[in-house]
Amino acid sequence: MSDALRHIPVMAREAVAAMNPRDGNTFADFTYGDGGYTRALLDSASCRVWALDRDAAAIARADTLAKSYDGRMRTTRTTFGDAATALRAEGVQSVDGVVMDLGVSSFQLDDPERGFSFSKDGPLDMRMGNEGLTAADLVNTLSEGDLADTLFKLGEERHARRIARAVVEMRGRRRIERTDDLAEIVARVAPADRRPGGVTIHPATRTFMALRMLVNDELGELERGLAAAEDLLAPEGRLAVISFHSLEDRTVKQFLVERTGSEANPSRHLPPAQTKRAPTFRLLHRGVEKPGDDEIAANPRSRSARLRAAVRTDAPAWARAA
Ligand SMILES: C[S@@+](CC[C@H](N)C(=O)[O-])C[C@H]1O[C@@H](n2cnc3c(N)ncnc32)[C@H](O)[C@@H]1O
Repeated sequence: MSDALRHIPVMAREAVAAMNPRDGNTFADFTYGDGGYTRALLDSASCRVWALDRDAAAIARADTLAKSYDGRMRTTRTTFGDAATALRAEGVQSVDGVVMDLGVSSFQLDDPERGFSFSKDGPLDMRMGNEGLTAADLVNTLSEGDLADTLFKLGEERHARRIARAVVEMRGRRRIERTDDLAEIVARVAPADRRPGGVTIHPATRTFMALRMLVNDELGELERGLAAAEDLLAPEGRLAVISFHSLEDRTVKQFLVERTGSEANPSRHLPPAQTKRAPTFRLLHRGVEKPGDDEIAANPRSRSARLRAAVRTDAPAWARAA
């Protein structure tokens, strides 16, 4: 496959180092995508990797790659929330590492038929897993207030109200079905974003990101995925999460603050003995790791990446994944 058709893995070296691969380990790559992490893990030790993704096209690519790894690589199509159930159905009771590289892959972003991008016209779909409501369904049915709130909260879009009003006005005339339609509506009422260094960001960037996160319930999935990882990891197993959005990073940070027992005071109304549960993780490194300047120069998409990593203790999981 040519490089142009590849997803360039972000912070793969750091993510694999966080997994600390040893011969005989079993890992779960919750976000197979184009297999950058899976391949790096399989090549770093005589270990096994379960490649998971909710996208059928990603799993089809994984099935092809699996043929070259002599039974060390297995695949299963699942969401984060169902990952523990899916692996147990395959006879996997626990794993030595879980890695999650959040967001969309270049394959999803660059295929106009998937509807993730405003730069190429296509159906306004945005579903990673091909099930549930599409972005077109949401754009044509959400109330003006809910649409504005979504754009403001998930997209941090300053012009959320103006955009929501323009969308509602347009859909009163005809249903909005195409990525080009939505990008044009947004560009009519919102200016392009100017970032330091003279970089100009298309006015629809934040709207598309917010809708993608809503369509795929990305923050809810992340919470369920972290619980699934806690449930699946063996004592001393490693968790590494790479996020690109401040709300995602905040969710991971909050989960680790809670699960490492670093929360200041869970409840002021109960004595500590009744509120404190045994920590299920300890931090691998304090705070976040960021990509190096060389990686950012080679792959500008990596600029906003944040890696958090932790080690599972032997305490029982706080919540068994559903
Ligand atoms: C950024 S890409 C991963 C790229 C991969 N690390 C690589 O190097 O090729 C994210 C992948 O995770 C999948 N994904 C995102 N959210 C998911 C979820 N909640 N459940 C399962 N898969 C998910 C997407 O379909 C996508 O293929």
